[in-house]
Amino acid sequence: MTAMDVTVLTDAARASRGTPPAAGALIDGRAIAAKLRDRVRGAAKLLATRDGFVPGLAVVVVGHNPASEVYVAAKKKMAAEAGIRSTDHRVPASASETDLLDLIHGLNEDPRVHGILVQLPLPPQIDGHAVIAAIDPGKDVDGFHPLNIGRIASGLPALAPCTPLACIELAKSAHPSLAGLDALVIGRSAIVGKPLAQLLLAEDATVTIAHSKTRDLPAAARRADLLFVAVGRAEFVSGDWIKPGATVIDVGIHRVTRGGRSRIIGDVTFEEARKVAAAITPVPGGVGPVTIACLLANTLKAACALAGLPQPQA
Ligand code: GUN
Repeated sequence: MTAMDVTVLTDAARASRGTPPAAGALIDGRAIAAKLRDRVRGAAKLLATRDGFVPGLAVVVVGHNPASEVYVAAKKKMAAEAGIRSTDHRVPASASETDLLDLIHGLNEDPRVHGILVQLPLPPQIDGHAVIAAIDPGKDVDGFHPLNIGRIASGLPALAPCTPLACIELAKSAHPSLAGLDALVIGRSAIVGKPLAQLLLAEDATVTIAHSKTRDLPAAARRADLLFVAVGRAEFVSGDWIKPGATVIDVGIHRVTRGGRSRIIGDVTFEEARKVAAAITPVPGGVGPVTIACLLANTLKAACALAGLPQPQA
């Protein structure tokens, strides 16, 4: 019997053999992200020495949202460490859509800028779709532009959204091939669930998207070899929803206060799920750091494509 056979035993089978349920292996997002960032840093260094060329990322922040500030600070720090020059573009919360569109048009024209990231959410007076559509698709390192979304759906090369890319990277750390596996994506958002389903299809997984109207969601979850949870509800998925031996990727991030202590948790009830899954991402330390690493990889890719340079293999 191989190690893989052991992890796919059901709890009933384990009990009959006197084997305790397997504790799920942690998928170490921080380590996976560090390796990816190292590759980006190596490639950026080669670009700088070979071509005298530094990839540039413009980070646009509208207003002051404490959560956005934390994400943006992390993105900028990681960019600097990877040899990507990031510039900050602050817009007041009272700005009009036209103000923001003018800024985007300027960044589209700026040859030092290869990636444009508009941190979401935006204030209500600004139509996020219009802003994303105004970004040059070649600089759309968030992969949110309709052209990139459409190219992904058509199976064409594109800048893909970073969180779905991170989910694939994490799943492949547990299963080098996703071909033929039953994947369930819980959540149908335009920036995670839908593009993730497309990327999974491109990996030849058998894909289902579940959402708030799905009937018997726990039963659907129990059929999944790969379970991706992006619903934005703290501890929405409990341990008894998980197929023994499944791989669980938790996209949620929630700050909660319990027993007077503040903690970050995900969309999955981690301790329960870990007892059933073969592999699971923690929160924090799972999808989050890999998402930022994918943003850096997208910026490098966009920069090389815009400059007509081959992407260095570091
Ligand atoms: N806000 C929350 N997640 C994201 C993301 O991936 N990109 C941007 N631009 N804003 C976000």
